[in-house]
Amino acid sequence: MDQIEIKGGRPLRGEIDVSGAKNAALPLLFATLLASGESRLGNVPQLRDIATVGKLLEIFGAEVEREGSALRIDTRGLVSVEAPYELVKTMRASVLALGPLTARFGHARVSLPGGCAIGARPINLHLKGLEAMGAEITLDHGYVEARAERLKGARIYLDIPTVTGTENLLMAAALAEGETVLENAAREPEIIDLAEALVKMGARIEGAGSDTIHIQGADDLAPYEHCTMPDRIEAGTFLAAAAVTGGDVLVHGARAEHLEALLAKLREAGVEIVAEADGLRVRGPERLRAVSIKTSPHPGFPTDMQAQFMALMCLAEGTSVISENVFENRFMHVCELQRMGADISVDGHAATVRGIEGLCGAPVMATDLRASASLIVAGLAAENTTRISRIYHLDRGYERIEEKLAGLGAEIRRVKES
Ligand code: UD1
Repeated sequence: MDQIEIKGGRPLRGEIDVSGAKNAALPLLFATLLASGESRLGNVPQLRDIATVGKLLEIFGAEVEREGSALRIDTRGLVSVEAPYELVKTMRASVLALGPLTARFGHARVSLPGGCAIGARPINLHLKGLEAMGAEITLDHGYVEARAERLKGARIYLDIPTVTGTENLLMAAALAEGETVLENAAREPEIIDLAEALVKMGARIEGAGSDTIHIQGADDLAPYEHCTMPDRIEAGTFLAAAAVTGGDVLVHGARAEHLEALLAKLREAGVEIVAEADGLRVRGPERLRAVSIKTSPHPGFPTDMQAQFMALMCLAEGTSVISENVFENRFMHVCELQRMGADISVDGHAATVRGIEGLCGAPVMATDLRASASLIVAGLAAENTTRISRIYHLDRGYERIEEKLAGLGAEIRRVKES
């Protein structure tokens, strides 16, 4: 198995490109199921999760072909509405097949994703929404089955503003009869990207990006041509990496309007961030200042940046409190950061980080996608060598990260386990 080896302590300098957003591309790919024909999605990162959706779409009968950074998806030959456990267990977002398949074919069978490293992550709100639209939901042998002759528009209140839940219901509503109103909807930028593609397909949608979305369903939708938004979490990870090494980096494709909470906190910590024509320039201070954060749904501080921000706070002057309010069990990176010398204590949903002068490289283990990114950030700042194992987590969400960071002068490479 591959590992990432980092010899830390070098300030990052130069320019780096952000890839297309994984979390936008996933729902956009599932949205192709809503129409018959050939859709084209640009700026799709080459990642394991994207390959998994490609395989799922092929199981349903679609043809998927990569042309450079774009994917061409032909859905004329769809034959199956079943998402098998073997694929769903490797990627929870497979549940995004449920809404579009039920809306288009009146039937879908999707394996339940099961537990995952960062908490229980139920899908009850996806199911409640589909039921409100008239679907009959059954659970059988670990599979969720949804049936409806035609979904009907409904008023749906989401108890929690779930991101993929909002996306699933948005796609279902686009082909439902009449109007659907999603209340307490997620407001993440990826929702806006999906809504834009659905509008291109022929749906009428108002309010995407706010907590109330109105969707006027269409009888038929057409394939789309669309370009995926840049990955705000990858961008944020690069900002963190540059900041923690006291570097000076231009992150092409980083958009301030997607990153407001993170930018505010980085600035509070003493990081200089300036918007340039095509991205954000970041300059790290000699020593960061401790800043506390609380994760919450967008536009709050993103849970997907919590682990990377913690890596920064390990080296800051002072004590910070990091509260995780979106997921349970999202502090697994703490033990690994402690192996590098970090002074962190966890009490329930809050971690207290007492900043120290230097981290020390160590062999560490990635436990989930963003935890792996935090170990990279820490490794870039640490003295000596850090070796990160189980980097298959990293490959789910970051495209060629070691190559990209090496382009900024980092001593980082992929090696075979010794
Ligand atoms: C998405 C992102 C993930 C990010 C997360 C929160 C994708 C593919 N993944 O995940 O990277 O970390 O948003 O920003 O876009 N919940 C329920 N019932 C449900 C659904 C969710 O109780 O039916 C709870 C979850 O357990 C969690 C919270 O709601 O505590 C938020 O989860 P959700 O927004 O659904 O996360 P995902 O969409 O899975």
